[in-house]
Amino acid sequence: MTEEHRQPAQAREKSEDAGRNRSDNPTLGDVIATRYERRDVLKGALGVAAISATLPWAALGAIGRAEAQENSRYIFKEVEAGSTPEHVVAEGYDADILMRWGDKVLPGAPDFDPAKQTGAAQKLQFGYNNDYLGYFPMRGSENPSAHGLLVVNHEYTNEELMFPGLGRQDRKEVAFKKMTPEIVAVEKAAHGGSVLEIRRDNGKWRVIGNSKFARRIDAETPMDISGPAAGHPRLQTKADPSGRRVFGMFNNCAGGVTPWGTWLTCEENFHGYFWGKIGDKHPEYRNYRRYGVPSNWFNWGAYEDRSDILKEPNEANRFGWVVEIDPFDPQSTPKKRTALGRFKHEGAAGIVNKDGRYVVYSGDDERFEYVYRFVTAKPVDRNNLAANRDLLDEGTLSVARYNPDGTVDWFPLVHGQGPLTGANGFASQADVVIETRRAADLLGATKMDRPEDIDANPSTDKVYVMLTNNSRRKPEQIDAANPRAENRFGHIIEMIPPGGDHASPQYKWDILVRCGDPSIAAVGASFNPATTKNGWFGMPDNCAIDADGRLWIATDGNAPSKTGRADGLWALETEGVLRGTGKLFFRCPNGAELCGPCFTPDGETAFVAVQHPGEADDDDPNAAPATYENPSTRWPDFKPDMPPRPSVVAITKRGGGKIAS
Ligand code: FEO
Ligand code: CA
Ligand code: CA
Repeated sequence: MTEEHRQPAQAREKSEDAGRNRSDNPTLGDVIATRYERRDVLKGALGVAAISATLPWAALGAIGRAEAQENSRYIFKEVEAGSTPEHVVAEGYDADILMRWGDKVLPGAPDFDPAKQTGAAQKLQFGYNNDYLGYFPMRGSENPSAHGLLVVNHEYTNEELMFPGLGRQDRKEVAFKKMTPEIVAVEKAAHGGSVLEIRRDNGKWRVIGNSKFARRIDAETPMDISGPAAGHPRLQTKADPSGRRVFGMFNNCAGGVTPWGTWLTCEENFHGYFWGKIGDKHPEYRNYRRYGVPSNWFNWGAYEDRSDILKEPNEANRFGWVVEIDPFDPQSTPKKRTALGRFKHEGAAGIVNKDGRYVVYSGDDERFEYVYRFVTAKPVDRNNLAANRDLLDEGTLSVARYNPDGTVDWFPLVHGQGPLTGANGFASQADVVIETRRAADLLGATKMDRPEDIDANPSTDKVYVMLTNNSRRKPEQIDAANPRAENRFGHIIEMIPPGGDHASPQYKWDILVRCGDPSIAAVGASFNPATTKNGWFGMPDNCAIDADGRLWIATDGNAPSKTGRADGLWALETEGVLRGTGKLFFRCPNGAELCGPCFTPDGETAFVAVQHPGEADDDDPNAAPATYENPSTRWPDFKPDMPPRPSVVAITKRGGGKIAS
């Protein structure tokens, strides 16, 4: 979910229009000079292929698209870009619905009946708005790529598409008028995550019923708080004087899978769940203002004290963390790992560094926010997975500054170092992680165009950062790493750790591609000219690296009125003469964004999560509001009495074999 998706007029303060980052970290002024400087750097560091990706699209048609397709690392016939009520996958592939909102997860779940929803039923059923997907091969299985656990984030709920007769409730003029305690109970139960046991028999995936691993986690599931902020007075509440136990997680966007077999799931727009109005007498005023708490996107605070920032002033400090869950033990208690910082975590994908330590990358998804990295203090124990249980409680969180000379510096957020002292309100590391954003401001991090997913490629050690868009960046605010004013379509940054050392204090960086329609010069896109009219995209959000080290991009925000195409899954070349060439593989149904691309280890299956199908085209001023009664699609059931349902899709090649090979 993004601010654009869901920002009720009543909560929108004028001051938020430029983002919430009011720090005066420098932006680089001279556009032209910077651009030439960057091109020189590219020439020196990366050679001709990199330059070609920065030149105007039309000028280099000479590479020849036919030849390019022959040399592509992704072998499939490209999908035609467009927008339809149905999804579309490349010819020769099946894209089968694996699990829909409301499908049974736990024993006793009733059949889904959208006219009779209850919180109790939803707690047993698959949640709404599937986002991150992670696949864990079943331990001891003969074919680990055909039997495993699929973990799924349920980011948020769209009440207007879920409930008959409701419409958007968060508009100022509506003010949650039609909400009821039961609807809120359904919303809370539809958040969180699911663990599913899945198996592929005769080529087709299915969810195994009554699995001992099946689990639903929601906005009320008890969780522990661990790491430097655990037990701190700023995390203590009436319901939890210990400051170590919290109920639930919400707005879990992307995530990660650790090599010791756990699921990292990230709390993103947590501010939207807090209720009330903040004044400068509130004990957390400076902190909450920096995160936009409260934003009143949901009215849960009308029914429970803890979501009301006046009644429970510390509760919002207990959200905005990375949560670690053992999917193989449904009785295990999820843990919020505070060492990784508190912000609007998009994801938490990681890589084992060459020295054995685990490195997690995480973007803070808001306009003008930062890119972070966490390096564990100790190495991963490959021989005793259980020994890694609390590995994420100790380590160093750093924030990135992208320099115009093509280097990126990582500044550690360590209490007592530099400005992170009592003089600036940081009495301990707990304060540093609770107020991560303010600590990063003081270190001079680079304000980015909405950092989303970040993934490291284990075969090249390059790291890809999705920057989805930032329409509010002004011309005087552009810098080398965010080179476009009013960046409507986003871009992708590649980071290169020296010698593959993901703990190094300095990397190199480059822009892999500036997104948008390359045929419109004013857009300033930089796809490789080998890219067809279907192959370019805007708004990169999630990404994945497949078993062959190839990059895949999922988008959020493409629409007929904005890019003439639905969101989808694009292949994106990263090496050689085709670097920066996109190619469309899967297209979402109307109104949906694509999330969670995830591949089985054998590369034969791509799981994708189709989120919020049926929404209206946000950028089309003439589009009728999408509602339960009038969605932009009824995917995937296409029945008149069934609303659209966010669903997980399993993509396989007909007749078998690796995807795109
Ligand atoms: Fe939940 Fe940043 O997308
Ligand atoms: Ca998204
Ligand atoms: Ca996302």
